[in-house]
Amino acid sequence: MNVKPASEAIISFQGVTKQYEGDPAVLKDVSFEIERGKFYTLLGPSGCGKTTILRLIAGFTEPTEGRIYFNGKVINHIPANKRQVNTVFQDYALFPHLNVFENVAFGLRIKKLKEAEIKEKVLEALRFVNLVGYENREINEMSGGQRQRVAIARAIVNRPEIILLDEPLSALDLKLRTEMQVELRELQRRLGITFIFVTHDQEEALAMSDEIFVLSEGVIQQSGTPMDIYDEPINRFVADFIGESNIVAGRMTQDFLVEFAGKTFDCVDQGLQPNEPVDIVIRPEDLEITRPEDGKLQVKVEAQLFRGVHFEIQCIDDAGNKWLVHSTRRADVGEAIGLTFDPEAIHVMRFNETEEEFDRRLEAYS
Ligand SMILES: Nc1ncnc2c1ncn2[C@@H]1O[C@H](COP(=O)(O)OP(=O)(O)OP(=O)(O)O)[C@@H](O)[C@H]1O
Ligand SMILES: [Mg+2]
Repeated sequence: MNVKPASEAIISFQGVTKQYEGDPAVLKDVSFEIERGKFYTLLGPSGCGKTTILRLIAGFTEPTEGRIYFNGKVINHIPANKRQVNTVFQDYALFPHLNVFENVAFGLRIKKLKEAEIKEKVLEALRFVNLVGYENREINEMSGGQRQRVAIARAIVNRPEIILLDEPLSALDLKLRTEMQVELRELQRRLGITFIFVTHDQEEALAMSDEIFVLSEGVIQQSGTPMDIYDEPINRFVADFIGESNIVAGRMTQDFLVEFAGKTFDCVDQGLQPNEPVDIVIRPEDLEITRPEDGKLQVKVEAQLFRGVHFEIQCIDDAGNKWLVHSTRRADVGEAIGLTFDPEAIHVMRFNETEEEFDRRLEAYS
């Protein structure tokens, strides 16, 4: 597939495949577009190809097939140092023998800018990341969060068009990590630079992104806003990877009627074949506990865990399906309870449907 990218796309991948000799392809015919000024996240398990996509954008490696566009021009063979892209690496890759100022100034010195200009730019970058006053500190005198900020200052000092961030928060403890998530997001808004951020942490992706690409085994499974992806996972992989889910096997009886757990339920889905086998997803927070006789499903409580904000209750129905419930109400192990849910809470997913097939099916019905 080689379609010219939309004019507002800053980066566009068209049918990009990356294969190392003798190995199966790491990226398989990947196409997507990145719009200017937004915060994008590549999300997926280890080895799915996230870093490979960043390396292709940065110019550290070339695609085996397909085209990569930057502002509408093919850049497959443009070397890394000619691209308007900067990378923040997981280990920050700071120079331990240089102080904070010189770490940030490094690229500017290579470009042989005048001393006064270097000073002005470095101080402006340090102001952006709240590190004014730390110019003379050695890197080994800085905390993890401060080093992180130095790495970001170094990436923004040249005002690149795109900043690539490869799991930049994974070395930080949970509290600092949450703070840095907010800080990074704020920084991106203030700078207006396009950020492409890599993580395998789904909560981080949901919290930070304008758009998420969910990857598995070198294929983009789904792309969309955090809410799109959370509310309408397109297949079993995405549903399982994003948030906690109940996934059970079912069958589409006809439009707006679906069968699972031995019963038939109203749903909001249409456009599948009559009796087509499907995967059903219901989020744990969409299940409500009732008396057994008032429930759409009758289940038995197998385990209960207090999670601070809610109880996490594991149940099993007569057909042997497990159901996870998040509820502010407690239920005791061994208790028989009912579960109820709205038709909108049932997400019906065609087996292994790709994003393109899903879009075509929706279009046919709108
Ligand atoms: N230079 C290389 N030669 C051969 N195989 C490679 C090379 N670089 C990466 N790979 C393979 O490509 C696949 C994707 O790697 P990549 O680094 O993109 O994964 P990732 O999604 O970033 O994973 P992680 O979350 O562990 O960082 C892996 O199977 C990896 O072993
Ligand atoms: Mg990686």
